[in-house]
This record gives sequence, C-alpha cells and structure tokens, in this order.
Amino acid sequence: MSRASPPTAQQNTPRQLIAAAAKRFRSARLAYGHGTLNADDEAAWLMVHALGCPFEDLAARLDQPVSAKIAQRAQLLFERRINERIPAAYLTHEAWLGEHRFYVDERVIVPRSYIAELLQTRLQPWLKPRQSPQTILDLCTGSGCLAIVAAHTFPRAQVDGVDISAAALAVARRNACEHELTQRLKLIRSDLFTGLTDQRYDLILTNPPYVREPVMRTLPTEYRREPALALHGGADGLDLVRRILADAAMHLTPQGWLVLEVGHNRKNVERAFPKLPFIWAETSGGDDCVLLLQKAALAGTPSVPAPQPRPPTVRRRRTPAR
Ligand SMILES: C[S@@+](CC[C@H](N)C(=O)[O-])C[C@H]1O[C@@H](n2cnc3c(N)ncnc32)[C@H](O)[C@@H]1O
Repeated sequence: MSRASPPTAQQNTPRQLIAAAAKRFRSARLAYGHGTLNADDEAAWLMVHALGCPFEDLAARLDQPVSAKIAQRAQLLFERRINERIPAAYLTHEAWLGEHRFYVDERVIVPRSYIAELLQTRLQPWLKPRQSPQTILDLCTGSGCLAIVAAHTFPRAQVDGVDISAAALAVARRNACEHELTQRLKLIRSDLFTGLTDQRYDLILTNPPYVREPVMRTLPTEYRREPALALHGGADGLDLVRRILADAAMHLTPQGWLVLEVGHNRKNVERAFPKLPFIWAETSGGDDCVLLLQKAALAGTPSVPAPQPRPPTVRRRRTPAR
C-alpha cells in the first residue's frame, strides 16, 4: 500500500488530480514503460480514461472542475495503479503504436515494439520506396499489433499473424475486427514456423520473447503482470531467436526480408552468429534492438540447437579452513 496521503476534496480539476496522483506514483516508486515513461504521463493517461475523452482534449479541460463521479472514477484507477501495480494499459484496456489503438488485457504484452517505428517509414531504406510486400508474416503476434500496423502500412498485403498462445490470438482477433482487417489478416496458432508448412513471405516481422533468465527474476511487478510466455527467452534470451534465424530463410521469398527484434541483445546475437551480416536498424531504443537480414544472407544458416543445459555442478566438499 502507498503511504502517501490520498487527495483532498479541493482537488477536482484534472490538473490537480493528475499532479496529486503523479506525486503518489513517485513515492510509491511505480515502474513505467507500458506506454508512458513517467508518473505525470501515466496519471494523465488514467485521467483521460476517467474523463472518457480523446487525449487531445485534455489540454482544454485541465482547469475545468470535474464531477464527483469522474473524480471518483479517476481515484479508483489511481488506487489500482498504486496498490495492484497494474500497468495503465491494462486498466484502460488500450495501448497505442503510433496512431493505431489496440485493445489489450493481461493475455498479451502491452505493445511497444520498435518494429512499429520502422513500419512508419515503410522499412526504408531497405525496401525501395515503391516496393510493397504482398505477403507478410508477423511471427509471435500477441495482440496482433504489428500485423495490423503492417496491414495499414501495406494496404495490398495479405498478412498472417502467428502465436502459440490461444489466449493471445483471441485478443488479436478482437483487434483485427476493430481494425476491419479480418479479410486480410489470418491468425494462426503455431509454434513459430512449425504450423506454416511451405508458406513463403516477402516480409517476416517478429518480436519474440527475448528476456534473459536472470532479468526475468528481477522484473518489476508491472512487467510480471504480462504473460511470462511473451517475455521469457531462455537462459541468454535467444532461445526463440536461434530457432527463427535457423528457419526464416525457408519461409522467405527470394528477395524477402526478416525484421527481428532482440531487445538489447545485439552483442549476444553477434557472438552466437558471427558469420551473419546483420543490419542493425536505428530506433528510439538505439541500434542494438532490431536487426534485418535478407533471405540470401540467411540461407545456409545452420539449424542451431538451443544451448544444452550445463551439466549439474558437482558440489565438492569444502576443504576445512586452515
Ligand atoms: C514479445 S510478445 C510480442 C507480441 C507482439 N508482437 C508485440 O510486439 O507486442 C511475444 C509473443 O510470442 C508468443 N510466443 C511465445 N513463444 C512462441 C512460440 N514458440 N511460437 C509462437 N509464438 C510464441 C507469445 O505468446 C507472445 O504473444
């Protein structure tokens, strides 16, 4: 429970409510990164949800007193954010990638993939300005967010979204409906490529789980609210990355591109695949998060088995201290 004092009766404009909530968020040391990066923005987002207005309208309403009902609705959201450490996106059931809004709940991670930034510029300079992929795969689709952004970016493309989680696919289906993309977006339950037989794509986008085991153990509660299946990438974070790099060439058309997000695991990836000529895209996360490879560069990537578990450490008897 937060020990900061709850707001007083005089706090009844959005500006006052946001300021008081942000102060409490700071003293409760909440973790951010699910759509906002600080206490003020997180409080403003929840306030907007309580007001039931578009975010753009907040500025005009900041100093207009709100009804008791709206103030109470906002307080309830602030309390849950503090006491249950639920990311704002799960409280409001919405998340944004650029201009696109998505329904989210705890069956999927909150969308924040850097690949969306690259789609905003139609993957240039790697794709030529007029080049439009006809077939796109979003592997590990979760809420379907990248598949949907890709479908909007390339309006003639047929898009497949693959996930191993039936629960995540239910959320993706809802988003596909809300974006009126059910004709162009096919959702498939599969363990990576295994259910796709000989399907080939002009573009494969993938934001797989890549959090390393030691980091998993130290995640703030907010991140533990997300499905572990969506985050956990094995001992070094590369369990799925290895499988994707091994099999992607088989599912790309001759000029096709793989766009793969690996978190900040660039060094690990380069160490594991010293011969692959990775292109590292510059995103707001830096140049160590998203790599690109064309089919020709991938072909011949050996099928790399996941690292074998280390043999159990033999516990030696401690030599008695001298
Ligand atoms: C990091 S999330 C990405 C979700 C979404 N693409 C995004 O960017 O927000 C990873 C997704 O991979 C899925 N996943 C985990 N293991 C998988 C596997 N073996 N095959 C297919 N999908 C898998 C999880 O269910 C989760 O939805």
